[in-house]
Amino acid sequence: MKENQLLLNAQSVLQNNWKNGFTIPCEGLYPFQWNWDSGFIAIGLAHIDLERAKQEIKSLLLGQWKNGFIPHILFHNKSDSYFPGPEVHASHLNAHAPKLPTSGITQPPVLGFAIEAIYDISNETEKTFVEEVYDQAFLLQQYFYTQRDPYDEGLVYICHNWESGTDNTPVWDLIWKDMDSPNYELNRRDTQHVDAVNRPSNREYQHYIHLIELFKEWRYDDTLIAKNCPFLIQDPLFNAMLIKSNESLVRLGKLLGKDKEVAQLSVWHQKAITTFNSKLFNEDKGAYVYYDLRNRRTIDYVSSSSFAPLFAGIATKAIADSIIKTHFNRGIFSGKENELLLCASFDPTSQDFDPKRYWRGPVWINLNWIIYHGLKRYGFKREAEQLKSDTLYLLEKFGFYEYFDPRKEVVEGLEIGYGGNNFSWSAALYIDFIKRA
Ligand code: GLC
Repeated sequence: MKENQLLLNAQSVLQNNWKNGFTIPCEGLYPFQWNWDSGFIAIGLAHIDLERAKQEIKSLLLGQWKNGFIPHILFHNKSDSYFPGPEVHASHLNAHAPKLPTSGITQPPVLGFAIEAIYDISNETEKTFVEEVYDQAFLLQQYFYTQRDPYDEGLVYICHNWESGTDNTPVWDLIWKDMDSPNYELNRRDTQHVDAVNRPSNREYQHYIHLIELFKEWRYDDTLIAKNCPFLIQDPLFNAMLIKSNESLVRLGKLLGKDKEVAQLSVWHQKAITTFNSKLFNEDKGAYVYYDLRNRRTIDYVSSSSFAPLFAGIATKAIADSIIKTHFNRGIFSGKENELLLCASFDPTSQDFDPKRYWRGPVWINLNWIIYHGLKRYGFKREAEQLKSDTLYLLEKFGFYEYFDPRKEVVEGLEIGYGGNNFSWSAALYIDFIKRA
């Protein structure tokens, strides 16, 4: 399909998913406002309708709690096509929560760099907008570095798999293995929209819900969560997004004369980068991995999250070289014969790799966008171009699906992508890939 036609299709996906002030990720499957989706969506919207891009961010900020926390779902509207809804999350249990019902867990903090992208795409005309939202974006960084870093290391934890954005990556299997969650009866709706083989299992969902039930018992109190939660992980993608947002807010803060904020962000930033490299880089794997803070162990699994730190400029040149050598160009994620499209969401050589199931193998467009910009930042032109052309190939062949099979041979014979169709961030980031990247 011609680029122009696809751009028009991408715009209509975003138009159809627009609900008077914010964009849902996907009709039926995800009918509310999602945190990191909104960041990526706003970047795409900025190319076609700046007002909507700004509104997307402002709607997200309506969900901010008094302590700076921004939840992963905002229930502005009603819908019974999704489980678990507002009554399960019960955010009112925490005194910081706003009147607007939200979830009580968060998602990768893309807000800071999404604001910067809007500013850049507007040709630096949107300074007033940056001024309007800056303090709230700063508060979010402050929340993480003061409430989610119990050992003052510069790395923050996540306490739920939904906080990672990579819901069912095999990394979490290790945590579930030791959890004795009840056999809740679940009223799942996702499998009514999408083939169950592409989604997490019921047992996994019971663990997801069990964690929420624990948080409610603790009224979403951060201290109790840090002390007791069985899921307490320093995740490379999540921390990389936070660090990238530090960098963006330092640049924007200088522009606005926010000296105090810039000084504080710079302190968090430096410390974060130092610990990130010493604690999360794994030489044997040639990649960044995960740290399980609850059980004090490294989880040396490699996923697409392992490459996100390039986007935030965290890696030294030597680390970046070793990542590329091990994983790209006939490396682990390309396949020995380059038989894989970039970039699988989980280690394709692992026995847990499943090319059809959600975050256990398929390609996701937002991770591709993050990794593409990381490769470019470090001057890996050939790999960046490969990643971009694989991304465009998938979107041009299938349209704006949620995720895609990375096996070239299989993809040739397929007619559709996996998961939801008309998925907002796939459309939004296509627009950014064409207009800016
Ligand atoms: C799924 C994805 C998550 C995304 C959400 C809404 O839960 O795993 O990353 O934010 O859907 O699109």
